[in-house]
Amino acid sequence: MNNVVLIGFMGSGKSTVGKKLAERLEIEWLDMDTDIEAREGQLITEIFSDKGEAHFRALETQYIKELIQVKKKVISTGGGVVLNEENVEILKKIGMVIFLHADSEQIMEHLNEDNTRPLIQGENVKDKVKTLLEQRDPLYLSSADIIIQTTGKEVDHIIEEIMLLL
Ligand code: S3P
Repeated sequence: MNNVVLIGFMGSGKSTVGKKLAERLEIEWLDMDTDIEAREGQLITEIFSDKGEAHFRALETQYIKELIQVKKKVISTGGGVVLNEENVEILKKIGMVIFLHADSEQIMEHLNEDNTRPLIQGENVKDKVKTLLEQRDPLYLSSADIIIQTTGKEVDHIIEEIMLLL
């Protein structure tokens, strides 16, 4: 079996769905952000504030390049991986890329009072999310092999939909 790669915006459920899907498939789950934090010994917020976004993006690409060796895993990516074409090329090569699409209201609900995501801190979070979604939705769409609508759905329902497609 190929890897299953989950992409989508922050708060779209990539980690929650990834963990449960891996349990269901009885295979290992990789969570990019968690792995990068463990490697760096820093939280994502600290990496952004100490070394900047460009450094974090380089760490993401380094991580993705190492995935070329990886087989039969569920991989939850960070919401920004689609910003780099090279990342997308590799992810498409190593597995089936599934876009978890949530609407902006659901995303806002999930991200309410979140302080772990540096790109959506401070004032006007709603506008920041809206702008990022407009930039990124086309990238998620063009990167995906499969699109799953997740708005208003329970995690188990989303898993069942994915299971039917694998
Ligand atoms: C980011 C999403 C985050 C994390 C970082 C940047 C983004 O991951 O990688 O804060 O640019 O969308 P999640 O999508 O898991 O929140």
